[in-house]
Amino acid sequence: MFRPSRIEIDRAAIAHNIKELTKRIPQDIMAVVKANAYGHGAVEVAKIALQNGATMLGVALLEEAIELRDAGIMAPILVMEAQFPQYAGIAAERDITLSVFSAEWVKEAAAYIEEKPLTVHIKVDTGMGRLGLRTREQLDALLEEATDSFVVEGIYTHFATADELDSDLYYTQQERFERLMEGIHERFRYIHTSNSAGAIRMAGQDVPYNLVRVGIAIYGLYPSHEMETFYSFLRPAFTLKSQLMQVKRLEAGQTISYGATYTTSADEWIGTVPVGYADGWLRKASGFEVEVNGFRCPIVGRVCMDRFMIRLPEEFPVGTDVTLIGGSVAIDELASYLGTINYEIVCQFTSRLPRHYV
Ligand SMILES: Cc1ncc(COP(=O)(O)O)c(C=O)c1O
Repeated sequence: MFRPSRIEIDRAAIAHNIKELTKRIPQDIMAVVKANAYGHGAVEVAKIALQNGATMLGVALLEEAIELRDAGIMAPILVMEAQFPQYAGIAAERDITLSVFSAEWVKEAAAYIEEKPLTVHIKVDTGMGRLGLRTREQLDALLEEATDSFVVEGIYTHFATADELDSDLYYTQQERFERLMEGIHERFRYIHTSNSAGAIRMAGQDVPYNLVRVGIAIYGLYPSHEMETFYSFLRPAFTLKSQLMQVKRLEAGQTISYGATYTTSADEWIGTVPVGYADGWLRKASGFEVEVNGFRCPIVGRVCMDRFMIRLPEEFPVGTDVTLIGGSVAIDELASYLGTINYEIVCQFTSRLPRHYV
């Protein structure tokens, strides 16, 4: 790579986060590495997570599971998004666990499974309104259908509001799940309900669940501001860095970038940073600040496809480091500037930005 712009992933931070989580959470930990490990690099993160206490991996897509298998990762992998039944045989062959949610799906999938049975976890919808069966009748019908070609290893649900401490829905979902599970806990090797927020909230409680699916916390980020009270041990692993490519002095009255939305009000030092919206550094970030030599420098004018301009407090040499995320610029600060959540920020950067593991 010739460009100076890169995402740096702090391996030690991920290892630290997993270790600290395993100390506090009594259940087994599934490291959720979908979406290229929330932009951090799926294969790398999966390896670090497994070396530091995670026992299972969670992804959204069969493609993501196959990428991990192709990289030689042999740990159990659960695909959490629905897959079409005709791909059941491919998943079985690669020892990939699928999420199932209806007797019809199971019946159809059986035709595609050959020698090796397919391991499945049943997905229950207790309030997300997303994927999953909703009644005990549907569960019983599925269990009846899932015979020889299937190993029914787990059952799970997903909370919509685990990160909101005053939400009643969180408790309602737990009740619905427990009602559905009445008398059949023993049938499953794994029963799981919690994401990062739920895992930490349940840490001290006696619950009949033995696995948690932890995503955002592995990356050192908080599921919500409210959850920061529980998560003081986390360390963010993601930084985005570049370097000044051009530095110039513009006199008062000069315009900058498309639309000429910024005009210098005096003599100003302007630096060009080679990261743009094609990298995932959104156009809406115009006006946000990045860090150069310990100074917070505002983005002036519109962010372009491949670069943006900043106002420097003084002349800095070409090649000076620019920190877009990291240092004093927290992901949560950028998220709130852009009106979104940290999850979306880390997922938005494209493959044009190389990931360096440090
Ligand atoms: C089903 C499921 N479980 C667990 C997670 C991990 O959630 P978090 O990143 O909040 O820990 C996700 C992520 O969206 C998910 O979809």
